[in-house]
Amino acid sequence: MNRGDSTIALTNGARAREGKRAVSPRPVVALRSVEEIVAIAKAGELAARALEAARSACVAGCTTADIDRAARAVIVDGGGEALFLGYRGAGRASVERNAYPAVTCISVNEELVHGVPGARVVCEGDVVAIDVGVRLDGWCADCATTVGVGTIDAESMRLLACGERMLDAAVGMVVPGRRWSDVARTVEAIASDAGFAVAVDFVGHGIGRELHEAPQVPCALNAAYLENGDFTLRPGMVLAIEPMIVSERPSRNERGELVGPRATLSSDGWTVRVDSGARSCHFEHTIAVGRLGATVLTPSNNTVAAAALRRAG
Ligand code: MF3
Ligand code: CO
Repeated sequence: MNRGDSTIALTNGARAREGKRAVSPRPVVALRSVEEIVAIAKAGELAARALEAARSACVAGCTTADIDRAARAVIVDGGGEALFLGYRGAGRASVERNAYPAVTCISVNEELVHGVPGARVVCEGDVVAIDVGVRLDGWCADCATTVGVGTIDAESMRLLACGERMLDAAVGMVVPGRRWSDVARTVEAIASDAGFAVAVDFVGHGIGRELHEAPQVPCALNAAYLENGDFTLRPGMVLAIEPMIVSERPSRNERGELVGPRATLSSDGWTVRVDSGARSCHFEHTIAVGRLGATVLTPSNNTVAAAALRRAG
């Protein structure tokens, strides 16, 4: 989600209108029971199946609308609701924004995020990020992956492997008592060490009854986050972790913090494009924090790493 869409900002805005002193905006994060996590896992299983169907539909010559239709069929068949369809975002942005018109976000090559499916034809060599959310029995799950269409160039392969490695590393570091900033610091270094820019303006999020709940779950750090957004992982938290990186040199501000690639919102009100035209990728899982670590609620066997192994024979 966009950093500005924070529900945390909303809470403080409401307090200000009521004439109360703005409190330090430390995120209050819902803790879910085992039964609730099982219910979110059912939504997650459906979301993951929709994502797999979308992946299978993502072949040279198809349109992004075809890929969207494949995901929609699985969600409808599974009795779920497409979470993104009609979504407007939280906070101030929601007032100005048109409702999201599709089931998935499909972002091809230089499209960074929130690409609206339509008539664009997918070609051999493209990298296609597909993001899908589901609500089932009142619980939400959100996941994304990036598909290489046919044979992709070596730099794109390296980009996808890096994005997946960031998500795997983040999930692997989840343990009660750890500060999220600790995870974000490790994950941003994976991207910058590989020479890729992190889309720091888009962050993961808590998820449960709604798509976007507190806390913000970034894959890069800055002083404002350390001051106002950081939280300690606790059993029962359910989070959507979603690194997005761009095949562009990472750059830093005067404080040494990573800054995102220059990107522009297109006239459809959603699709964000990288100004340089560089390619990007996006990987996302909904996870639950347990006593021993994370459980992935949107699991898939179809990873970039597994595909590389298969190709290597
Ligand atoms: N995974 C994306 C996010 O959390 C989903 C956005 S849904 C949309 O930002 F409807 F806003 F596009
Ligand atoms: Co998300």
